[in-house]
Amino acid sequence: MASSSAHRSPQVADCVALVTGGNRGIGQAFVEELLAGGARRVYCGARNVDDVPGFMRDAGVVPVPLDITDVDSVTAAAAACPDVTVLVNNAGFHGRDRLVLTEHPEIARQEMEVNYFGTLNMIRAFAPVLAGNGGGAIVNVLSVAGAIPTAFMGGYSPAKSAALFLSTIARAELDEQGTSVTALIVGSVDTRMADHVEGSKEDPRDIAKTGLRAMMRGERTVDTDRMAYEARSRYALDPARYERGMAKVMRSGIQSTGR
Ligand SMILES: NC(=O)c1ccc[n+]([C@@H]2O[C@H](COP(=O)([O-])OP(=O)(O)OC[C@H]3O[C@@H](n4cnc5c(N)ncnc54)[C@H](OP(=O)(O)O)[C@@H]3O)[C@@H](O)[C@H]2O)c1
Repeated sequence: MASSSAHRSPQVADCVALVTGGNRGIGQAFVEELLAGGARRVYCGARNVDDVPGFMRDAGVVPVPLDITDVDSVTAAAAACPDVTVLVNNAGFHGRDRLVLTEHPEIARQEMEVNYFGTLNMIRAFAPVLAGNGGGAIVNVLSVAGAIPTAFMGGYSPAKSAALFLSTIARAELDEQGTSVTALIVGSVDTRMADHVEGSKEDPRDIAKTGLRAMMRGERTVDTDRMAYEARSRYALDPARYERGMAKVMRSGIQSTGR
C-alpha cells in the first residue's frame, strides 16, 4: 500500500538548517557542509554563543543560544528559528564512565538527559515548525554505541539506543506531515568527545557529508562509516562472542577503535 505521506526529500541547497551543538566537532562539520552545499540560512545552536567560531559568523551563520536539556531554551529557539526546514540533532554528551561499576551514578542520568530527552525536546518543539515549512527533515546524529552495547560507554550507549528508537517512532508519527527522519549510526570520530580513544578515527567532515547525502536520499537508518558497519556486523553475526570480547576489553582497561 502506498504511504499516506507525500515526502519530498529535502535538499541542502536553499534549505534553512539548525544544527544543535554546532560550535565544534561533528556539529561544526555539519555547519560547514551545509554552507558548502548552498543552504540559504544556517543556525548554529550553542550553549554559549561566544563559542560559535568567527568564521561561521563571517559566513552569515546565525548563532542561537540553545541548551537542549532546558525546555524553555528549546522553546525560545523554535520561536527564533521559524523558517527551519532541516533540523540536525547533533548535540551529545559522553560521560566516559562505566554503567554499573561506577562511583558517579548520576552521569548515566545526565547522558540520558542530553542524548535522549534533549533530542526528544528538540523534535517536539520543531515538529510544528517543520510542518509549517512543508515537512522538511530531521537528522539525528547517533552512534554505533546506540546500535550495539558498547564497552566503556556507561549510560551513553543506552541513551543513544533510546534515541535510535525515538528516531523510528518520530518517523512514524511525523510521516503524515511529510517530515523525514534519518538516524546516523556513527563510528569513532576525531573530535573532543573521542580524544581519549586510541586508534584511527573518522574525519567529522566525512560524517557530515554522508549524513546530509543520506538525508537527501530520504534514508532511514544509515551507517556513516566502516567502523560502524563492521561493529554492527560483528555483533549481529555472533552476539555471545561479541559480549565475551567486550568483557575482555573492559578488563584490559584499554579504549581503542581497534583500527
Ligand atoms: N566523536 C565520536 O567518536 C562520536 C561517535 C559517535 C557519535 N558521536 C555523536 O556525535 C555528536 C557530536 O559529537 P562530537 O564528537 O562532535 O563531540 P563534541 O566535540 O564533544 O561536541 C559535542 C557538542 O554537543 C554540545 N552539547 C553538549 N550538551 C549539550 C546540551 N545540553 N545542549 C546543547 N548542546 C550540547 C556541546 O556543546 P559545548 O561546546 O557547550 O560543550 C558540543 O557542541 C554527539 O551526538 C555524539 O554523541 C560522536
